[in-house]
Amino acid sequence: MRRFFTALPFLSAALFAAVPDDHAARMAESRELFTAQVRGILMENCMKCHGGEKTKSGFDLTSREGLLKGGDQDVGAVPGKSAESLLYQAVAHLDQDLAMPPKKPKLPAESIAAIAKWIDLGAAYDKPLLEKSDGERAPLVVSSEDRNYWAYAPLREVAPPAAGDQSLTAIDRFIAAGYHQAGLTPAGPVGKRKLIRRAFFDLVGLPPTPGEIEQFVTSSDPQAYPKLLDDLLSRVPATASAGGVTGWTWPASRRATASNTTTTASSPFTTATS
Ligand code: HEC
Repeated sequence: MRRFFTALPFLSAALFAAVPDDHAARMAESRELFTAQVRGILMENCMKCHGGEKTKSGFDLTSREGLLKGGDQDVGAVPGKSAESLLYQAVAHLDQDLAMPPKKPKLPAESIAAIAKWIDLGAAYDKPLLEKSDGERAPLVVSSEDRNYWAYAPLREVAPPAAGDQSLTAIDRFIAAGYHQAGLTPAGPVGKRKLIRRAFFDLVGLPPTPGEIEQFVTSSDPQAYPKLLDDLLSRVPATASAGGVTGWTWPASRRATASNTTTTASSPFTTATS
């Protein structure tokens, strides 16, 4: 019994030698760093190929277990030793044969520094990077590249390009600039006969009568066109929304072109072209 007690101090010293006193505090700090920075970095830059859609080189870093197990070449990380960790070596481009993410610019220095610190503190996870419910479908990962897609960008005021022709509306000026860039010359304005036909097909789905055409073509009123549009719009049922107008004009224009053997009238989107 006495011998047992004397042996105890040595036993405990040997047991705890590998675990520093501040282990718990360091792991907590590592976990915090993971939540704040590392999780996002790995999700955005690595998960697609290492546990998300694919598991390249057998390396799945979804969980700490997978990280420590590593891939075909080595363990992914040695907790406490970033310099010996394949993951760190890969992102820091220490070995040009294993530069991650592949064919992409090196991660920003502060991201690499965060990864190094996170490993040095113990490479703790707060929870797995992906909740694999059925073991297959990974949740959608929205990268910063995705966020730059024009449709998700915040609205901002854009000045229309300068145009030689100051009578152009702001939208026309964008179109004119596009034409110019493509080396195209836009078609000139249409004659009054075509204009009234287009307006009728667009707004009521039927062609104008010869009398209506004649009246418009011979009118010297500079406001004739806006007046015509107001008149045509007043014929559209008040309940018709933008979509409703299309739906409403479709049957009418089908009737109008029923004798026509072409199939253009079978789609609501071709009725406006005349
Ligand atoms: C486009 C896919 C892709 C992305 C994104 C990617 N990897 Fe890789 N990764 C690979 C491929 C492929 C290999 C195998 C490379 C080889 O050994 O030639 C690999 C291998 C590795 C290995 C070695 C694993 C082993 O032991 O074999 C590590 C570590 C690694 N990647 C870390 C990362 C990290 C960290 C990121 C994010 C910063 C990342 N990878 C992003 C494709 C990718």
